[in-house]
Amino acid sequence: MESKVVVANHKMNLTVREISDYLKKISKINNKNVIICPTSIYAPYFLQNGYSVGLQNISYKEKGAYTGEISPVQASSMGISYAIVGHSERRELFDEKDYEVHAKVINALDNNMGVILCVGETDEEKDMLRTEYILKKEIRNALKDIKKEDECKIMIAYEPIWSIGSGKLPKNKEIEEIVVYIKEVLKKLGLSNIRILYGGSVNEKNIKELKKLKGIDGFLVGGSSLDPDKFLKIVEVAVK
Ligand code: PGA
Repeated sequence: MESKVVVANHKMNLTVREISDYLKKISKINNKNVIICPTSIYAPYFLQNGYSVGLQNISYKEKGAYTGEISPVQASSMGISYAIVGHSERRELFDEKDYEVHAKVINALDNNMGVILCVGETDEEKDMLRTEYILKKEIRNALKDIKKEDECKIMIAYEPIWSIGSGKLPKNKEIEEIVVYIKEVLKKLGLSNIRILYGGSVNEKNIKELKKLKGIDGFLVGGSSLDPDKFLKIVEVAVK
């Protein structure tokens, strides 16, 4: 079975001492298919140890008086190669709108960064059968006017919001149907070369089953990426 991409999203977790322990424990990992998105201040530790690194968010500005922001120009000048854009926590807790997600995607791509674009429906949206509508809206708004040559730099992470951190997952068949749908939406945008990841309660126990998913090129892992032993197990199964 082909090798998958594994993206770790540490969110706002771990202290510097824990990071040092983490690095020791994951030192067996030596694969460009693993991307670590630590809390941004820890990025240099992972870069120094040879990992592909992503930020969990990126500014849509290039430089200037924007306190607290990090621009893709700065990130790529350090060797950071990816940015997660539009994670549901940023959309929900920081009220990030589709037009901001779009501006961030464009800014990252224009400045040599890869983009991990997160899309997904809430519990209520799923119950109201609005999943496809939400996915179409989020993808179209985020990827409008994307240059064809940039599509290889984009990954879409399908993350049902109700699955994030909850231990609940869609059935494999449901995820596969969503992948087909996402590909249709992309095709209508003239895009056919974008990788699709699954995210939401991926762990060391379910990774074997999830690896069988058709059309899924990799995984975005939150909670289970914080424990180096669990993360190692996930990588061992997914990346081969
Ligand atoms: P989870 O988070 O693996 O803890 O569900 C995934 C994410 O938020 O990207």
